[in-house]
Amino acid sequence: MVQCLTPLPNPSRLCPKGLYAHASLSLQHGENSQISSTQNQSKLQRFSQSAKFASEFSVYRSLAAPRPHFDRPRGATMDIPGASAVEISELAAATPTDSIPVLTLTEVANRLHDYTHPRCKPYTAMYSSVVGGITLDPAAMVVPLDDHIVHRGHGVFDTATVFNGFLYELDAHVDRLLRSAAQARIPLPFPRAVLRNILVQTAAASGTREGTLRYWLSVGPGDFNLSPAHCTSTFYAVMIAEERKSREIVGGVKVITSSVPIKRPYFATMKTTNYLPNALAKMDGEDKGAYQAIWLDDEGFIAEGANMNVAFVSKGTLMVPSFDNILSGCTAKRMLVLVEQLVANSSYNGGALLNVKVGRITVEEARKADEMMLVVSSHLILPVTEWDGQAVGNGEVGPVVKQLLSLMEDDLFNGPPEVREAVPYKN
Ligand SMILES: Cc1ncc(COP(=O)(O)O)c(C=O)c1O
Repeated sequence: MVQCLTPLPNPSRLCPKGLYAHASLSLQHGENSQISSTQNQSKLQRFSQSAKFASEFSVYRSLAAPRPHFDRPRGATMDIPGASAVEISELAAATPTDSIPVLTLTEVANRLHDYTHPRCKPYTAMYSSVVGGITLDPAAMVVPLDDHIVHRGHGVFDTATVFNGFLYELDAHVDRLLRSAAQARIPLPFPRAVLRNILVQTAAASGTREGTLRYWLSVGPGDFNLSPAHCTSTFYAVMIAEERKSREIVGGVKVITSSVPIKRPYFATMKTTNYLPNALAKMDGEDKGAYQAIWLDDEGFIAEGANMNVAFVSKGTLMVPSFDNILSGCTAKRMLVLVEQLVANSSYNGGALLNVKVGRITVEEARKADEMMLVVSSHLILPVTEWDGQAVGNGEVGPVVKQLLSLMEDDLFNGPPEVREAVPYKN
């Protein structure tokens, strides 16, 4: 039985090792600089009034009184209504003049409790093996700073969606987590069955009927060395209440070919917390007005998106890049199982899909495709209608992509018990 912990304040139960990072659980956004100046209070207030800044740059609204300290990623461009570039650079150059309080554990806990980061709201439950239980209070969703997942990126992760109160494809994702852990040489803190049970109980405790369960296996806390020789593995899971993302996207999306290099297969095949290349590739796409960036492998074959698989339909053949050099997508694999019905059942597919090919796909072949799609658990299937500024096929969402999406949605809503597990909510 996983213990459900009481909300803060009761900090002594939460911090046995004393070193904690407030966990949005994505702690590797890069170096932060602290800026402070009493003279700039009004400008700072204006900064903190900006919802965009607050959400993107972590203004700690209620932590300090007065609150002259805030974090800003070095060199970042800030979009702050009413503040000129000069004012921003003045602030960036300001010298800290206020003394920073040295806080007791209780004060830290109270301040964390008051912390109002807008993105904390949908975090409905977190399990941590460090405390051996589940908390429902976002303020208590912390990880030790000396955990090597934080300062060395020595961790692996995975996800599973919860839809209509059912966990979808949990086993496939847990299996991939364990494969990644083996590749990253992370010893399991618990046997698979215990780990799986923790995930189900975390989902149940959250009460969340629609969202994403994310979880991490880390080589663990112990010190700040590179070698994990003195570490003990940890397991964390967090439930995020959110609507299935495909609902947000109407029609197809644009993609570009990434100019950020792909990870070598050794690393691309494991789902580690080293997602800097992935994040940069995604940003590369966004910079160019695209939703996603597509990677080619070292030999120039189509590989995958920054955090999604990619597939094509050409003359009745579904083409999926083989998983040798990329992450083996649970959704793409499930699609490959389900698509057999579509190929076999000509009355259903209207003859649109005749074959499936998993293998190497050249850019030339892919460019000639009639349809293109991104494949990922958060969306299932996402149609792509433009690639590097050129229309894919006739530039409309194609018939096979539509059929594949409805096939996958049917599996999500009504699939067999091996892919759909009812979450045992207590209320
Ligand atoms: C690099 C990468 N490729 C592919 C995928 C798609 O995997 P899945 O279908 O399991 O969500 C992901 C998603 O996590 C990813 O990060």
